[in-house]
Amino acid sequence: MGLRYVGSILLGVMIWMLRGENAKGVEGYACNWGRVSSRPLQASVTVQLMKDNKFTKAKLFDVDDDALKALANSGIQVMVGIPNDGLAPLVNDSKAAEEWVAQNVSAYIKSGVDIRYVAVSNEAFLKDYKDKYIYDVLPVCKNIYNALEKAGMLKKVDVTVPLNADIYESYTGLPSGGDFRYNVKNVVVPLLKFLNDKGFPVAINIYPFLSLYYSPQFPKEYAFFNSTSNTLYDGKYTYTNAFDGNLDTLAASLEKNELGSMGIIVGEVGWPTDGNINANNENAQRFYQGLIDRINKKQGTPKRPDDMPDVYMFGLLDEDAKSTLPGNFEPHWGIFNYDGSIKYQLDLGNGDKLVAAKGVKYMKKQWCVLSPNANIYDPKMKDNWNIACGTSTGCTSVGNGSSCGEVDDRTKASFAFNAFYQVTNQDNKEGCKFNGLTIVTDKDPSPSNGTCKFNVALDPSTSPPPHSRKSHPGSNSMATPTTYPNSLLLAISIFLMLSSV
Ligand SMILES: *[C@@H]1O[C@H](CO)[C@@H](O)[C@H](O)[C@H]1NC(C)=O
Ligand SMILES: *[C@@H]1O[C@H](CO)[C@@H](O)[C@H](O)[C@H]1NC(C)=O
Ligand SMILES: *[C@@H]1O[C@H](CO)[C@@H](O)[C@H](O)[C@H]1NC(C)=O
Ligand SMILES: *[C@@H]1O[C@H](CO)[C@@H](O)[C@H](O)[C@H]1NC(C)=O
Ligand SMILES: *[C@@H]1O[C@H](CO)[C@@H](O)[C@H](O)[C@H]1NC(C)=O
Repeated sequence: MGLRYVGSILLGVMIWMLRGENAKGVEGYACNWGRVSSRPLQASVTVQLMKDNKFTKAKLFDVDDDALKALANSGIQVMVGIPNDGLAPLVNDSKAAEEWVAQNVSAYIKSGVDIRYVAVSNEAFLKDYKDKYIYDVLPVCKNIYNALEKAGMLKKVDVTVPLNADIYESYTGLPSGGDFRYNVKNVVVPLLKFLNDKGFPVAINIYPFLSLYYSPQFPKEYAFFNSTSNTLYDGKYTYTNAFDGNLDTLAASLEKNELGSMGIIVGEVGWPTDGNINANNENAQRFYQGLIDRINKKQGTPKRPDDMPDVYMFGLLDEDAKSTLPGNFEPHWGIFNYDGSIKYQLDLGNGDKLVAAKGVKYMKKQWCVLSPNANIYDPKMKDNWNIACGTSTGCTSVGNGSSCGEVDDRTKASFAFNAFYQVTNQDNKEGCKFNGLTIVTDKDPSPSNGTCKFNVALDPSTSPPPHSRKSHPGSNSMATPTTYPNSLLLAISIFLMLSSV
């Protein structure tokens, strides 16, 4: 072996080491771990689920003590978050920010939690929030930055800001026409300049599924990664999927504002499996497999080909207590079911497949169903149905195109009653009453064919009591927003470009 080759190997090793340093470890996957569930899966079981499936980075939406304790010494890098409602006290008060960092970062790092990021706010610029939070984000970033510096944490912990893709739009319908939305540009650009000056990335949430949901004309194939039928030409770049088109619209927006080299993280991306005609296992599997293959190839976007960002999938588990205002799909974003069981298979690379959660503890195998004697046309049906559906998200699965959309009406009613019953922790006094229309059974009512599966609640002793969850209202993404007008505009304009090709 000549010296020249040794030299190039050494150079290669150095570049590899530098990249490793920059990317904070490129092995493995990243996911969002939200816990807006009537009964979240046990934290230690969830962390093992992440490890078994090569997730090496976890993004939380707040500072969940139960989750963080389980993440200690797990080898998983953690992003903690300051929810929008938590911004105000930190805006003008640097002491409060110092206390926040002491309690919510330093203390956990001391006990072995590998915290790497503080996410300040979550999609704070969404139009639905009507500018309520937008002026708070930069001051809080500054205060948290100073507090991290004072605590000697800056070598380890970065600050980022997760933004919805509605922060930018394309005036030409092409990625190259991207710029920040004109009415928030004067707030967003200084915020991003601050982050970029400190060497911190921006985190962007991208949802091709929602483009499809909000615009029936959106070319469905373009939402996936291996489409051959929809190609978008933009100067020297060619786009075959919404993920790349969207990221490069951001890259172009950054370039136009002297932020061309700013780092990008994908804070959320995913595909739901229920509650809508396009939300099913088949589409989710196709989307995620394409995404995972891209992550493993480390293949970036046409504009940034060597730079595949860290991609936090949304999310790890279904969350049955999420608001259905955005749509019936909202509780069904998990790669895994609420209990960590498998929805569909994925190839995680090297032939490794998804592994289900181990050691999950359930309540008794019993279900609440429509009594054989009950008449589905009983006038009391409607009110009881509304109670069941209002308190659980069971009815998100019985609509057209959903997992229980095909079953008969009696099974649909049973499904809704059972969802309520399980949310009440199988309360046999109150949970399965419904004016005598229902009975409790120990025979699994799930139809043996098809996709309609009746749940059993998780053992309540494995989760924190409900009051600790209520203290983080709306901590999860998209719990309240109802519209994504700019994603829609972007989707439609890109569709128009496609159809004229
Ligand atoms: C921060 O201080 C400014 C100036 O005094 C004030 O206008 C603003 O309302 C304060 N913001 C918060 C969230 O307390
Ligand atoms: C730490 O974070 C939690 C959860 O967001 C919050 O309730 C608490 O006030 C924070 N601690 C401090 C000292 O700000
Ligand atoms: C894309 O991949 C899915 C499976 O991941 C496959 O079913 C489909 O045929 C592929 N489409 C194209 C156009 O290659
Ligand atoms: C369900 O949706 C499909 C596809 O959009 C449609 O063809 C069908 O008519 C719908 N059925 C009902 C009962 O709404
Ligand atoms: C399941 O089987 C029942 C009874 O044979 C049938 O009526 C129903 O259409 C089937 N459902 C599916 C989704 O195949």
